[in-house]
Amino acid sequence: MPSLLKAATSQVGRKILTGLTGLFLVFFVIFHLGGNLAIFGEPDAMNRYSLMLHNFGPLLWIARVGLLLTFVVHAWIGLSIWWNKRKARPQKYAVYSSKGGPSKQSLSSRSMAFTGVVLIIFVIFHINTFALGEMGTVMIDGQQAHDIKSLVIETFQNPFYAFGYAFVMLLLGTHLGHGIWSAFTSLSIHNRKLSAMIYSLGVIFAVILAVGFLFIPIYVYFGGGCEAALIQCH
Ligand code: HEM
Repeated sequence: MPSLLKAATSQVGRKILTGLTGLFLVFFVIFHLGGNLAIFGEPDAMNRYSLMLHNFGPLLWIARVGLLLTFVVHAWIGLSIWWNKRKARPQKYAVYSSKGGPSKQSLSSRSMAFTGVVLIIFVIFHINTFALGEMGTVMIDGQQAHDIKSLVIETFQNPFYAFGYAFVMLLLGTHLGHGIWSAFTSLSIHNRKLSAMIYSLGVIFAVILAVGFLFIPIYVYFGGGCEAALIQCH
């Protein structure tokens, strides 16, 4: 086996890869939330943002494929680490207690595999709904653009989507609440003092991201943004 591949698939290599892919995905999620917040801006702000992305042409598709591969590598290695740990400790602890130290045992850390699997299923479903969904077009500055805003508003008229999304965003917050700290730890960017600070900052970040995303479907469900969309709202 070539030595780089051998290093990447070793125990340490896999930890580093989950940390790197995890941090990359956190950056994507921050960027994505920033773009989605355009729904609260000018009536055509969201479609303008989408047009700006689509104007990257083939580069957008290269970025999308890279992003998807990052999701798959992150989920695959994360699940394999979880499975190996489970095999090594077949008996469950009778009582869990937070050590408060570097292990940071919590509901968030114990549910990483579960929340991760839900999130990967969500992303597939989500890309099918929005990135590949059927939508109309609008003219922006003489250019034909996808009417992504109407699709988002139409989708979140449905309570199954609106509250389903809100629930998954809570799981996203739970996953990131432990995941951000864990990524820094995997990359060995920690010591006892720094570790507590990274953990707290990670939790704050996770809450901000989850609340930011969660607010969108709920806002739309209760009538937000409807006046600007080319569809009938309830
Ligand atoms: C309320 C929450 C969300 C809304 C309203 C939303 C909206 C959208 C929209 C409109 C697109 C299509 C963009 C375009 O083609 O112009 C998209 C794509 C995508 N979303 Fe989301 N999103 C949300 C949450 C998330 C979360 C939490 C993740 C990841 C964990 C995510 C991952 C993706 C991915 C991977 C794509 C395809 C790449 C892209 O086109 O940018 N989304 N989303």
